[in-house]
Amino acid sequence: MADRIAALAADAVPLVLGGDHAVAAGTWRGIARRAGHAPGLVWVDAHLDSHTATTTHSGNIHGMPLAALLGEGDAALAGVPGLPLDPARTCIVGARAWEPEERQLLERLGVRIFDMAEIARRGLTAVFRDALAIARAQGSGFGLSLDLDALDPQALPAVTCPEASGLDPRELADALLALRGCDDFLALEIVEYRPDLDADGRCARWIAEFAAAALGPDGAELRDKERRHGAANYAPLPVVFQRGEGVWLWDVAGRRYLDMMSAYSAVSFGHGHPRLVRALTEQAQRLALTSRAFFSDRLPVFLERLCATFGYERALPVNTGLEAVETALKAARKWGYTVKGIADGEAEVIACDGNFHGRSITIVGFSSHRQYRDGFGPFPPGLRRIPYGDADALEAAITPRTAAFLVEPIQGEGGIVVPPAGYLARCAEICRRHGVLLIADEVQTGLGRSGRLLACEHEGVRPDGLILGKALGGGLLPVSAFLADRAVMDVFRPGDHGSTFGGNPLAAAVGTEVLALLAETRPWENAERLGEALRAQLRTAALPCVREVRGRGLLVGVELDPAFSAARSAECLLARGIATRDTNRNVLRLAPPLVIDEATLREGADIVADTLSSLPR
Ligand SMILES: Cc1ncc(COP(=O)(O)O)c(C=O)c1O
Repeated sequence: MADRIAALAADAVPLVLGGDHAVAAGTWRGIARRAGHAPGLVWVDAHLDSHTATTTHSGNIHGMPLAALLGEGDAALAGVPGLPLDPARTCIVGARAWEPEERQLLERLGVRIFDMAEIARRGLTAVFRDALAIARAQGSGFGLSLDLDALDPQALPAVTCPEASGLDPRELADALLALRGCDDFLALEIVEYRPDLDADGRCARWIAEFAAAALGPDGAELRDKERRHGAANYAPLPVVFQRGEGVWLWDVAGRRYLDMMSAYSAVSFGHGHPRLVRALTEQAQRLALTSRAFFSDRLPVFLERLCATFGYERALPVNTGLEAVETALKAARKWGYTVKGIADGEAEVIACDGNFHGRSITIVGFSSHRQYRDGFGPFPPGLRRIPYGDADALEAAITPRTAAFLVEPIQGEGGIVVPPAGYLARCAEICRRHGVLLIADEVQTGLGRSGRLLACEHEGVRPDGLILGKALGGGLLPVSAFLADRAVMDVFRPGDHGSTFGGNPLAAAVGTEVLALLAETRPWENAERLGEALRAQLRTAALPCVREVRGRGLLVGVELDPAFSAARSAECLLARGIATRDTNRNVLRLAPPLVIDEATLREGADIVADTLSSLPR
């Protein structure tokens, strides 16, 4: 082993996967020979592995590799060619079982031992930081040797010598992420795996996770790769997330952030909700995709539940928000020709200034945002725009050719704009009077986000057509739908409209579970209460840079004075562990998952207020 490692290219970072920890004698002597000097070493282990030939109880070399690497004991191991470790740059993490002779030897040599008692007291993150400082002291390279028995055997039972109460594997994986940023990291060794005890592969999955955490590319490298190979149609903040749980996200350096963005309101139930993940994985293993050329046993159940939940006779499932909007537009036009009697090719649809309904050519044809349109014309005819929040403007714009009015009950991407009280109810009345379909785009506001199941409920409005998306996929996959009664939806005949993935069994299974969760947990109640508290807290803070705090439920916008930049405020918040973005009109968006608890939200709001109070101009 030592010979093979020593012969590796100077810039290779070997991953040694082993059984008995005695293999370490070869790994680290080989590393020392390749480098021309001894590496620093973090030894993660339940045991000290530091018997010598005179103190070992079994005579087995298993208990000796660390002592041997330090140049002590049995010549068969200690004499493997290569330089011995420097005890001052060697440390042990996670120890909880040793013979007195071992500890005496290591303490005499000056090896730092971070035992489990210390880890319990200080936390693994702090201990691991100290361990790295010891191993990296001279800046001439270091490695990490992980004996899997350092972990809690309840989580990783497939080891030879389990010891109760070890490290939490998730915490260790997070700690190992720190190695990605270390360009003096020389090698990783993971040992004591017993495949014969790992029937369900749990231990192997953790091994893969540990190796990936330590050896994966760092944030800068990943961002650069995306820049080199991706289109430049987004400008993400400089953070690379690798894991999410509930309201929290972790980046590739292991740093935790509070998610105040929820992927543009799509992650309402939090990241990785166990019931949704179960629905997804179980269905993925059964049947994921059939196309609508056939029936599946999942879609009918989803459709029935969708209609029952929102009170419509029919639902048409597609994937993304824009597809559901396109579906609504097609339904409205065809309804205009076949039911309302508009002359062929003449149908009009009215939308609002400041809208956001997606990015297809038809939909950006509606947009009042220049960048969304510039360079993408010509756009289809028959699309008109009126000011948002002005019901008189709607009445004035309607003609006999008007098929539908498409509106967001709260404009999300437009800057979290809440229309004047009574607006939606008046629009509904005007549409009814003129025989125009009222179509509500609740892709962002729906499913509890605004403090009601649907934002239209704030004004007691039942639109003729309802567009849902984002949170309908549980933050796991794209699921969207257009809902309407038969009088509208029955304009579609087989072949009129479709999508290969729309209504697939996987989406239907997740969507069905989302609807079950909605009914059982009523997340809009939390959104209503906590959204009110969040806005009150931010208003009370009376921040000089803030022009207005607005929104409904947990869709909150903080509009900044033009002397300040909402984009800059999002960068400052990221540095303080809050992940969110600005949106149009110089607005900072605050839209955490609806499952957030009061204390976490209050702490998050404290950080937001503190950050905004010292925001540079
Ligand atoms: C109100 C509204 N409609 C439609 C869309 C488009 O959804 P998607 O990005 O899934 O196409 C969005 C996206 O932000 C939205 O906020």
